[in-house]
Amino acid sequence: MCGIVGYIGHQKASHLLVNGLKRMEYRGYDSAGISFLENGKINILKQKGKVENLDRLVPHDLINTTIGIAHTRWATHGFPNDVNAHPHTDNTGNISVVHNGIIENYTAIRTKLKQDGYSFFTDTDTEVLAVFIGAFYEKVNNLEEAVRMALSEVDGTYGIAVLSSYEPDKIIAARMGSPMVLGIGENEYIIASDAAAIIAHTNKVIYLDDGEMVIVTREGFITKTVLNEETKRQIEAIEFDIQQIEKSGFDHFMLKEIYEQPETVKNAFRGRLLIEKGNVKLGGLNSVIEKLRTAKRIIIIACGTSWHAALVAEYMIEQLAHIPVEVEYASEFRYRNPVIGPEDVVFAISQSGETADTLAAVKEAKQKGATVLGFVNVVGSSIARETEAGTYLHAGPEIGVASTKAFTSQLTVMALVALMLGRMRTLSQLDGKRIALEISELPEKITKVFDQLKQIKEIVDEYAHAKNFLYLGRGFNFPLALEGALKLKEISYIHAEGYPAAEMKHGPIALIDENMPVVFIATQDEIYDKVLSNIEEVKARKGKIIAIANEGDERIKLVANHVIYIPNTLPMLNPILAVVPLQLMAYFMALKLGCNVDQPRNLAKSVTVE
Ligand code: G6P
Repeated sequence: MCGIVGYIGHQKASHLLVNGLKRMEYRGYDSAGISFLENGKINILKQKGKVENLDRLVPHDLINTTIGIAHTRWATHGFPNDVNAHPHTDNTGNISVVHNGIIENYTAIRTKLKQDGYSFFTDTDTEVLAVFIGAFYEKVNNLEEAVRMALSEVDGTYGIAVLSSYEPDKIIAARMGSPMVLGIGENEYIIASDAAAIIAHTNKVIYLDDGEMVIVTREGFITKTVLNEETKRQIEAIEFDIQQIEKSGFDHFMLKEIYEQPETVKNAFRGRLLIEKGNVKLGGLNSVIEKLRTAKRIIIIACGTSWHAALVAEYMIEQLAHIPVEVEYASEFRYRNPVIGPEDVVFAISQSGETADTLAAVKEAKQKGATVLGFVNVVGSSIARETEAGTYLHAGPEIGVASTKAFTSQLTVMALVALMLGRMRTLSQLDGKRIALEISELPEKITKVFDQLKQIKEIVDEYAHAKNFLYLGRGFNFPLALEGALKLKEISYIHAEGYPAAEMKHGPIALIDENMPVVFIATQDEIYDKVLSNIEEVKARKGKIIAIANEGDERIKLVANHVIYIPNTLPMLNPILAVVPLQLMAYFMALKLGCNVDQPRNLAKSVTVE
């Protein structure tokens, strides 16, 4: 979603700011803008569309300033057009503001400001904030005070950066529910909503807390709360390096991230698997180990692909540890007054650690007394900090909007958690060892899946004209059917549905004819034969069958039109292998149809609004 970058230092700011925006393009956006101070005046350039357009619009050679702020906008209030693009200004044009998040009481504030004679030229909540700050400035003649006063009256979420000609050598940034990071360089500072925009300059950062602001000048910075109490913040190091956010020879981030999976899955279990003991060591969960041992129920909250990982985790944990697990969309959980209490353990799964609904659900679960644990990829993210304990995924930055490597890392970490919980309860050391060994072999097996590329591309060529796809699976493979369908629709815009294979008879079967490709995830488990029967049902109606099956399965060849083989593993680990061909199929389909793989239309990488 929206991205913020700001710079104050000794370098020319305009290039640096635009390049910072480019680093955040992956988040999804529809317009971009920049504001800089030159000759004591605020200048603003902004435009609908790509950062590339903004880059062409900005006369870099003519701009000598070393201070500015910039933004990529993902429309919430008002169309994605030039006028609504950020930065926005107060009525004098002397204060410019970029903002991520949503000011919920903006209508009331705007009405009041209009009564006081202020005007509005855009549909955005951000302009209201800018005018509000300007109104306070008129009273107090102090930018920091004006920002503080405005922020203490707004409801909702914000990450903001403010630049003003009144106090020209200063940028003020603040956060509430929307990330904001201060990068500390040599006589220069970069503020950004995403560390990806900072890493090219420095890896020393301070992650602002909710309700905190930073006032940055050329001489240094101070952090304080919006209530004006000074805070002392520790400088931390960004955990990734610049190569990890570059394509490194791949055509797209998504493809790179698919191919990184042998390594990222290994990183998810590295140092955590105790193969001989048939057990797992997860340092981040030490403080809650007794809670986990006695948990009566686990509730998992997540969104999107992470929600699919949660569904697989439900099967894993119930099978190995016999603890009842419920999986909920975070967006539903947060508003339905869930019945939970101190005996429950809640897992929040999130790649970004910033998804607004998941974060709000975490807060709701904490409010009700549950122990809330985070399984998050982005180190230092809001969900990681809001949860009592947890385990990082260590997948490295995921740039492609369609989640791939984070999913397999989530599944790997969930397999570790299930194994650990199982060993605390009924699972024997021998069974634990068998599972731990299988987990350790996953990276090599994922690499083998890449050998199926030719078959995958043939399937893509044959069905690129299809308007619909159906994805079916049972047991551990049912959530995978949902994930396969999601991947395809996200990036190729082909309509796709995922279903539990047996449910097909209760509706989707009506759609099946010779034009309907049906992807079956039909790996060897206790219900393999049942899945074969479902395949026969589709075949009898002339549907085209694409099967993901285990190596050595000859029966499947007799019924399927196409087979993609993956190595054998335990049924609970199958999704970690079987999702790889589904990711590749979606990727090559999107490529063939000329879609923007890494930045699909309307989608955002990190959904920081409800
Ligand atoms: C967005 C992304 C998805 C992601 C979902 C949840 O919709 O496009 O790829 O699965 O958010 O995000 P999270 O960061 O919480 O895993």
